[in-house]
Order: sequence, then structure tokens, then C-alpha cells
Amino acid sequence: MWIIFRLLLVTAALNLAGAESVTTNANAFAGYAGSESCRDCHKDDYELWKTSHHALAERGASPAIDLVAFVPSRNIKHGSETTAVQTNGSAFQIVTLGMDSNRQPFRVERVIGNSPLVQFLTPFPGGRYQVHEASYDPKSNQWFYVYGDDLRYPGEYGHWTGRGMNWNSYCAECHNTDLQKNYDAATDNYHTAMAEMGVGCEACHGPLKAHNEWQAAHPKTTLKDPTVSKLSPARIVGLCGSCHSRNTDLTGQFVPGESYYDHYAPEILDAAGRWYADNQNKDEDYEFEAFMGSKMYQDGVICLDCHNAHSYKNTLQGNELCMRCHNGGYPKAPKIDVASHQHQCASDCKGCHMPVTVYMQRHPRHDHGFTIPDPLLTKELNIPNACNRCHADKSTDWAVKYTDEWYGTNMNRMTRERARWVASGASHKLIGLLADTNQPAYWRAVAASFLSRSADEPATQAALLAELKNEHPLVREKAVRALEPSLADTNVLAALKPMLNDPLRNVRVAAAWVLRATVDMQGQAGQDLQRMLDLEADQPTGQFEEAMLLLARQQPAEALKHLKKATAWDKLSPPFLCAQAQVQDQLGQLADALKTLDQAEAAVPDDPHIPYVRAVILKRNGRDDEARTAAKRALEIQNSFIPAQLFIEKL
Ligand code: HEC
Ligand code: HEC
Ligand code: HEC
Ligand code: HEC
Ligand code: HEC
Ligand code: HEC
Ligand code: HEC
Ligand code: HEC
Repeated sequence: MWIIFRLLLVTAALNLAGAESVTTNANAFAGYAGSESCRDCHKDDYELWKTSHHALAERGASPAIDLVAFVPSRNIKHGSETTAVQTNGSAFQIVTLGMDSNRQPFRVERVIGNSPLVQFLTPFPGGRYQVHEASYDPKSNQWFYVYGDDLRYPGEYGHWTGRGMNWNSYCAECHNTDLQKNYDAATDNYHTAMAEMGVGCEACHGPLKAHNEWQAAHPKTTLKDPTVSKLSPARIVGLCGSCHSRNTDLTGQFVPGESYYDHYAPEILDAAGRWYADNQNKDEDYEFEAFMGSKMYQDGVICLDCHNAHSYKNTLQGNELCMRCHNGGYPKAPKIDVASHQHQCASDCKGCHMPVTVYMQRHPRHDHGFTIPDPLLTKELNIPNACNRCHADKSTDWAVKYTDEWYGTNMNRMTRERARWVASGASHKLIGLLADTNQPAYWRAVAASFLSRSADEPATQAALLAELKNEHPLVREKAVRALEPSLADTNVLAALKPMLNDPLRNVRVAAAWVLRATVDMQGQAGQDLQRMLDLEADQPTGQFEEAMLLLARQQPAEALKHLKKATAWDKLSPPFLCAQAQVQDQLGQLADALKTLDQAEAAVPDDPHIPYVRAVILKRNGRDDEARTAAKRALEIQNSFIPAQLFIEKL
């Protein structure tokens, strides 16, 4: 039974952003000088940056920019609700439902994002800012509802007043310079602070007050400035990835120039299905992980090959951007003959290789996986293809016909095979992918993740054990996690223990989590794990994970305290409520356990897990008849729900 929750835990792992829980230190930002201080000496860089989306990533509300959105006052309808925007004196207001069902005005204090849409922040008690659902598109001067048809109500976790839309926890880190979340678990308050609002110079160059002072003290010198250093290409991509990826933040203390993997565990294509099997983006996944899967990344191409380091605009326009390298002059880059490659299709390179998906209702984002448009994979696996994304009026067969005609046997690419292997989950294919040193590390890590399902087969286990020594930390991390189901095997256990001392934190945290029942919490890896959990303590997922740790360490009473926080903060989550009920039962609190399940069922009446857990608990307490009724109820909700079928058979 507990296995169900371990799996759920993986899928429940949200993009947890944030910073370490420390008390505010007035000197925390003493090394920072602010972007304005760089202007006079680095005029060109400053001017490019000043109007970039980075500089404008977050700011105070300002009449000069924002008045046009709030005057004249107007209404936005969504579902049965109406939200109004207006001014009151010099304040901007959004009139909407708050924590309860009374419409009231909320003062807009800050603005997040820039274009193609902006969102608005209102201060809440406890040092919080909450992100409004009413959002604004500056280009069309339109207001809209950022969740589209997904209506959310007061009291729900994902409502704008809930923890799911809390700025301190979920937004601030990527939209500001050196953000310190400073969550105080004892009081449930935040003392969030940053060096500078928006993504300033020092977000990427680190604190540089010492540089300003050194330069001021050494005018017109030929001496080498010891306060600044160049970043390696790999470190630059990791720096971009720190904000342009979906990840679990391990420290809340990323420092430009340090390894990405010492601070983040990225989400990748795995059973959660956030990417398609060929690695095209599905969910809102930013750029880094998709790019990691491409041959270009493997061969050392970095973000700055296509983006200016300060304006972030593309360095060249149209096909020129790509043909700079694909004209035969760049090592390893295949030479492309534009006329015969594009045929009579009017798309440019990015149209076919960087298909667009609209996120947040308004933002068409370009896929950075540099995947191959392959309509045959649409037929076989229902993966979208770039051709029909544009030619929506044509059939998949039409697109297959043209790709075959135009590209012939070139379409039989390894990338096609790879997508098939990943989609099929066939372990012998995935073992091949895992061991293939020609593949980007990303894909080997993907193979490791999917192999978790067959980790009890000797061949899979041997393949995963071999990758514990892989030179890439992403592959090591995913291999560690994939071996969790085989912990009972003493060889596996013995091989995993040294991973607690891996040089990189993403691997250590994974090892500590997998070995959580016994890991020394005072050791390096134990402390790394606890640091990550403390960082997430302001969210129900963080409380849930802490509870899973304590349960594994046979501390159910302590675990229950954390589960109660999780279910108080997210009242509608069946995994949290079911886990709470099970622990209550384990502690001999049967009546409370059943009450928790009543609450769960009332909140989510159509989830078969809830009556199933009720059945398990009742059976454990010798109430077989009631258990059978509950299991039947699970099957009424979902006829094919196998755990309940097996349960009734065995009863
Ligand atoms: C008083 C003038 C001055 C100020 C103020 C100043 N810089 Fe510099 N900076 C320089 C000079 C001159 C160099 C070249 C030094 C060298 O390479 O040895 C430099 C070099 C750099 C470099 C390294 C460039 C490279 O790749 O070699 C970076 C990055 C940098 N500055 C960023 C900043 C930032 C960010 C600020 C504001 C916090 C700033 N600078 C403020 C004068 C200044
Ligand atoms: C501290 C977090 C952070 C870091 C580090 C960072 N970015 Fe960004 N980036 C953002 C945010 C946030 C936005 C969106 C800002 C907005 O639209 O308000 C953004 C936007 C962009 C854009 C879109 C610009 C446009 O005109 O649409 C590009 C391109 C970009 N970043 C590239 C990079 C690259 C390349 C690096 C590494 C050198 C990098 N970023 C580092 C946070 C970051
Ligand atoms: C993991 C880092 C990260 C977090 C956390 C994050 N953002 Fe962003 N945000 C970005 C980046 C990067 C972009 C630039 C878009 C892109 O990557 O294509 C962006 C862009 C935006 C934009 C501009 C519109 C757009 O699509 O470019 C808005 C508005 C925005 N974010 C709001 C938010 C809000 C509100 C939250 C919290 C609920 C949040 N962001 C959390 C990184 C982040
Ligand atoms: C989103 C990340 C980012 C931001 C924000 C940023 N830079 Fe940079 N900058 C880079 C990267 C990456 C490089 C190339 C690094 C290298 O080669 O070491 C660079 C290079 C530089 C250089 C040396 C090369 C050149 O172009 O002259 C200077 C100086 C510099 N930046 C100053 C600044 C200043 C001043 C600001 C703010 C006005 C700023 N940067 C903002 C990422 C950033
Ligand atoms: C800085 C040089 C450079 C630039 C700029 C560049 N490429 Fe590449 N590209 C490469 C290299 C190198 C490879 C890797 C070839 C290999 O190892 O198979 C590659 C491979 C590819 C592949 C095959 C990807 C795969 O995973 O099989 C595609 C598709 C591609 N590039 C498209 C583009 C597009 C589209 C652009 C413009 C948006 C572009 N490239 C710009 C250097 C570049
Ligand atoms: C009409 C859609 C389309 C357009 C436009 C397009 N491509 Fe492609 N591209 C494909 C298809 C399909 C393949 C796979 C078949 C092949 O390799 O010929 C491919 C393959 C590639 C490859 C991998 C070649 C190899 O040998 O591995 C590169 C590199 C590439 N394209 C670059 C580009 C560049 C650069 C442009 C812009 C000049 C571009 N593509 C425009 C559809 C397109
Ligand atoms: C081979 C070229 C290439 C590389 C490498 C590349 N980009 Fe881009 N990027 C583009 C192009 C082309 C666009 C689309 C620009 C447009 O037309 O709006 C884009 C757009 C973006 C945007 C704006 C949102 C969107 O998707 O339209 C962001 C953010 C971004 N890139 C971030 C990154 C980051 C971060 C990296 C490195 C991890 C990176 N890019 C690497 C070519 C590249
Ligand atoms: C970014 C959008 C875009 C993408 C991606 C794209 N096309 Fe096109 N294609 C166009 C446009 C625009 C035209 C010219 C207008 C028209 O006839 O529809 C065109 C024309 C064509 C034509 C000739 C006109 C016709 O309808 O017979 C064919 C065939 C074609 N595309 C096939 C493809 C195939 C195959 C792919 C994928 C490998 C593809 N296109 C990807 C935009 C796109």
C-alpha cells in the first residue's frame, strides 16, 4: 500500500522554488552594488540589459507604465465571477473574491513579467505576496484570466489566495536577484528579501561591489582585475538553467559560476509525462531540459550562440541564425542546403525545429529541444509534429507523405527509434539507450528513469548499477533513484551507500532519499536532504515529503503532525488525506482516520483511491463487511481499478 504513495510522491513533486530558511541578515547583500552602479563604466551592456525582459522581470507598480491597464475601470468575466480593475487615489486595485466569498478591492503593489503578459502582486499577511489570476496583455491592452477555463475557488490550494499562487514560494526566485525566501516555519511567516528587484547584472555576475571598489581604486590600470572572472561555457548554460528549467531547488543559494547540479535536481522526461517521448515540451517547461536532450547541447552549443548576453534577443535573424553554423563551416554541424531541405514549404528553420506552444494563455514559446518534425510518430504515438501544428487543416497522412517524399530514408533516424523505445518502455531497448556513450547524457538519464519499473530484473539492475559511476551527475542521480525498488538486494544497498558521498548534491540528496529509512541525518547527505526539505516546508508537498521521511524512520506520531499541515494547506489532495488516514489508523486513531476519509471523499467524490484506502483500513481493524462495501464503492467510481479488484478477490 505504501508503494502507491511513494509513486504519488514522485508525481506530486512540483516545481518547488525558493530559498533557505534563515533569519534575515542585514548584511546578506553587503557584497552587492546594484545594476545602476555599473552603468557608467559598462554603458553598452547596461543599455542592452535595461530594456531586456530580465531587467523588467519584476518591478513596483508605476503610474507611468500601468495606468493604461487600470484606467478606465473595466470588468473581466470568468465563469460566474466578475473581476474589476480600477484606481483609488494613486493606488491600483483589483476587485475580486479573496479568501472568502466577498468581493473586495486588493491593492496591486508589484508587477511580475513584462511581455507578452504581466501579472500582479498583492501583499498578504505574514510577509506574503499573492499572484492575481486576472492578468494583462500590454500589446492588445486586454485583461484575461490566466488559467483559461480552469476555474479556481476561494479556499482551494490553487486559488490566487492559496499557497499554490504564493509569490515567495513559487515565483520570486527566478524573477529577482539573489532571492532569499526566509520562511519561518515556527510562525508560518516570510521575511523574503532580495539584492535587487528583477534579474539584475549581479544575478548573473555575482555580487560585484568589490569590483566597483577595485576599479575605482585602479583607474586606467593594466593590472588584471582580481574581482571578475570569465565563466566556462558549461557554467554559463547552468546559470541560464538555474531559472530556465523546471527543477527542485536543493539549497535556495545558487551562486553564478557554481555547478547547476550542486543546487538543482532538474525534472526530465519521465513517467510524469511533462515532455513527449521525443522530448518536445508538453507542460510549461522552459528551455533548459529540452535543450539538454539535443545534439547541439552535447556538442557544446550554448544559449549565447543564439542569444545576445544582455539584450537576450537573437544574435541573427531568420535562417541566418542557424545557417551561421549549418553552412558547412562549423565542426560537426550537418551542412544544410536550404532550397532542397525546405522544399516548397514556407517555414523557416525554427518553424520546423522549434515548434511553438502557447503557455499562460498568451505566450507562444519556442521548443528548445531542436527535435525533428516526424508525422509518423504522430500516427504511432500521438506525439505532435511541427508540420501539422502549422498545417492544421491537413491530415497526418498528408504530412507523412511529404516527409517521406522530401526526406526519404533520412526520416529513419535514431531520434525516431529513441522516441519509440521511450514510449514502449521496453527494458532491453532502454538498457541499450542507457549504455550508449554516443547519446546525450540527458537521454541516458531518461532511460534510467524509465528503467525504474523493471529494476527488479537482473539485466536492468546490472545496467543501472554500472551507471552509478557515469561521469554525468544527471545520469548518476536518475540511476540512484531508479534503484529504489531493489533496495532489498544487498548488492544494490552496498552500491548505493557510497553515493551518499558523491561530489554533487543532486546525487547525494537522491541517495539520502532512497536510503531514508537508515541514512545518518547528521552526515553530509542527510544534512543535504534535510536542507532541501526545510526549504520546502512552506508547501504541502514539502510537509508530505517530511512525513514520508519520518514514516520511513518509524516516527509515525511526528509524521502525522506534518501530514496535518499538508492537509490543512491543501484540503483537496487525496494522496495527502489518504496518507493522513493511514497514519492515524497506524497510531490507533481509527475514528479520526475515518473522519479524514470522509473529508477526502466529500472534497473529491470521484477518486477511487479514497474508498479503497477506507477498505484497507477497515479490513485491518477486522471490519470485513464494511471493507467490502468500501472496495465496491471504489469499483463503482472506476470499474478498472485493479487494487480494489484484487482486494475483493482476497477478502
Ligand atoms: C569604475 C568602472 C567600473 C565599474 C563601476 C564596473 N566595472 Fe566592470 N569592469 C570595468 C573594467 C575596466 C573591466 C575590465 C577589467 C578586466 O578585464 O581586467 C571590467 C570588467 C568586468 C567584467 C569582466 C569582463 C570580462 O569578461 O573580462 C564584468 C562581468 C563586469 N566588469 C561587470 C560589472 C558589473 C556587473 C558592474 C556593476 C556591479 C561593474 N562591472 C562595474 C570597469 C568597471
Ligand atoms: C535569475 C533568473 C534568470 C537567469 C539566471 C537567467 N534568466 Fe533569462 N529570464 C528570466 C526571467 C524571469 C525571464 C522573463 C522575464 C519577463 O518576461 O518578465 C527571462 C527571459 C529570458 C529570455 C526572453 C527574452 C525575450 O526577449 O523574450 C531569454 C532569451 C533569456 N531569458 C535567456 C537567458 C539566458 C541565455 C540566460 C543565461 C545567460 C538567462 N536567461 C539567465 C530569468 C533568468
Ligand atoms: C523556475 C524559474 C521561474 C519561476 C519559479 C517562475 N518563473 Fe516566470 N518566467 C521564468 C522564465 C524563464 C520566463 C521567460 C519565459 C520563457 O522561459 O520562455 C518567465 C516569464 C514569466 C512571465 C512573462 C510572460 C512570459 O511568458 O514570458 C510572467 C508574467 C511570469 N513569468 C510570471 C510568473 C509567476 C506569477 C510565477 C509564480 C507563480 C513565476 N513566473 C514563476 C522563470 C520562472
Ligand atoms: C542573464 C544573465 C546576465 C545579466 C543579467 C547580465 N549579464 Fe553580463 N554577461 C553574461 C554572460 C553569460 C556573459 C559572458 C560571460 C563570460 O564570457 O564570462 C556576460 C558578459 C559581460 C561582460 C563582458 C563582455 C562584454 O559584453 O562586455 C560585461 C562587462 C558584463 N557582462 C557586464 C554586465 C552588466 C554591467 C550587466 C547589467 C547591466 C550585465 N552584465 C547583466 C550574463 C549576464
Ligand atoms: C553554434 C553553431 C550552431 C548554431 C548557431 C546552430 N546549430 Fe544546429 N547543430 C550544431 C551542431 C554542432 C549540431 C550537432 C551535430 C551532431 O553532433 O550530430 C547541430 C545539430 C542540429 C540538429 C540535429 C539535432 C539532433 O538532436 O539530432 C538540428 C535539428 C539543428 N542543429 C537545428 C538548428 C537550428 C534550427 C538552428 C537555428 C535556430 C541551429 N541548429 C543553429 C551547431 C549549430
Ligand atoms: C519543412 C520543415 C523543415 C524546415 C523548414 C527545416 N527543416 Fe531541418 N529537418 C527537417 C526534417 C524532416 C529533418 C529530418 C530529415 C533529414 O535529416 O533530412 C531535418 C533535419 C535537420 C538536421 C539534421 C540533419 C542530420 O543530418 O542529422 C539539421 C541540422 C537541420 N534539419 C537543420 C535545419 C536548418 C538549419 C533549417 C533552416 C535552414 C532547417 N533545418 C529547416 C525539417 C525541416
Ligand atoms: C540554436 C539557437 C538557440 C539556442 C542554442 C537557444 N535558443 Fe533560445 N531562442 C532561439 C530562437 C530562434 C528563439 C525564438 C525567438 C523568436 O523568434 O521570438 C528563442 C527564444 C527563446 C526564449 C523566449 C521565449 C520563446 O521560447 O520564444 C527564451 C526564454 C530562450 N530562447 C531561452 C534560451 C535558453 C535559456 C537557452 C539555453 C538553455 C537558449 N534559449 C538556447 C534560439 C536559440
Ligand atoms: C511554421 C509553420 C510551418 C511548418 C512548421 C511547416 N509548414 Fe509547410 N508551409 C507553411 C506555409 C506558410 C506554406 C505556404 C502557404 C501554404 O501553401 O500553406 C507551406 C507550404 C507547404 C507545402 C506546399 C503547399 C501545399 O499545401 O501543398 C507543403 C507540401 C508543406 N508546406 C509541407 C510541410 C511539411 C511536410 C512540414 C513538416 C516537415 C511543414 N510543411 C512544416 C508553413 C509551415
